[in-house]
Amino acid sequence: MKNFARITGTGSYLPPKIVTNFDLEKTLDTSDEWITARTGIKERRIVTSESTCDLALEASLNALSMAEKKPEDIDLIILSTTTPDKIFPATATMLQNRLGASCPAFDLQAVCAGFVFAMSNAQQYIENGSAKNILVVGSETMSKIVDWTDRSTAILFADGAGAVVLSADKNTGIKHSKLYSDGNYLSSLHVNNNRINELGTIEMEGNEVFKIAVNKLSEVAEETLTDCNMTSENIDWMVPHQANIRIINAIAKRIKLPLDKVILTLDKHGNTSAASIPLALDVGVRDGRIKKGDTLLFEGIGGGFSWGSILTEF
Ligand code: ACO
Repeated sequence: MKNFARITGTGSYLPPKIVTNFDLEKTLDTSDEWITARTGIKERRIVTSESTCDLALEASLNALSMAEKKPEDIDLIILSTTTPDKIFPATATMLQNRLGASCPAFDLQAVCAGFVFAMSNAQQYIENGSAKNILVVGSETMSKIVDWTDRSTAILFADGAGAVVLSADKNTGIKHSKLYSDGNYLSSLHVNNNRINELGTIEMEGNEVFKIAVNKLSEVAEETLTDCNMTSENIDWMVPHQANIRIINAIAKRIKLPLDKVILTLDKHGNTSAASIPLALDVGVRDGRIKKGDTLLFEGIGGGFSWGSILTEF
């Protein structure tokens, strides 16, 4: 009988330093009013000395604790990040070492869609029987690739980590996943380095990204619901990538999902790329809104573009 990949633990971690919109007003030609109205972001966390692996470790320990699993119970670690600590080794192997686990571990890069891609990958290992427990992590230090003099991007991105433990379950878990990539959009959102050993900064055509995000994420949500024979009334919670409140509002409206069924954290977290969905998920689980048996829809899009969705019973 097929195993489902079911979330048995969630965890997250935010670096302690808070940077508010008012803080950004001091160094950029911007305002709290503009940032709030155009994005929904009020504040974000930024690392001081912490690495991507440091954040991932704390989030992972929290997820393992909720799942009542030890590092030695984990068969595979998949860490999605845009901001690995080194070109190599993979941040996932550093995390494996610091956790004291001995399983295979690899990084996965799909920018802000990274968590959805990592979950879909992990689902395959559990469904085909080659793993029982997988640690899936999204961890980012996006502040290291932001041009802090560019007001169009510096206001958006932030740091943090989220993690889940996915375990084999006979009854329920991930019911559908769908992934897409289209490399035609490279210039709309990218890091402007020419050589791999130069650290560039994010360049973005905001208006273009906005339209693509609304269209692709609405389409993949509609496709997911159709494939699962569901309507938005069957969704208990949508946990979207936290990029912009206006993007999320537009998608919710298009799929006829009331906003009070959407977990929103971008006011406090900003856009933490691959970490944003597991961070929001952990908030919803720990404050009691997301309950066992709930049907959840995750969806994310990131540079490339790559995008996708996961529909799961919690
Ligand atoms: N403060 C004040 N003014 C600003 C700022 C700022 N921080 N940034 C831009 N402006 C100005 C512009 O210069 C422009 O001025 P002008 O009219 O005099 O030329 C004006 O505000 C409007 O600029 P737009 O770019 O048209 O503003 P828009 O409403 O599109 O909002 C934003 C910009 C917030 C970037 C929006 O396009 C957006 O969120 N796009 C999606 C980007 C995104 O989410 N990227 C994340 C990565 S991908 C992902 O995660 C989905």
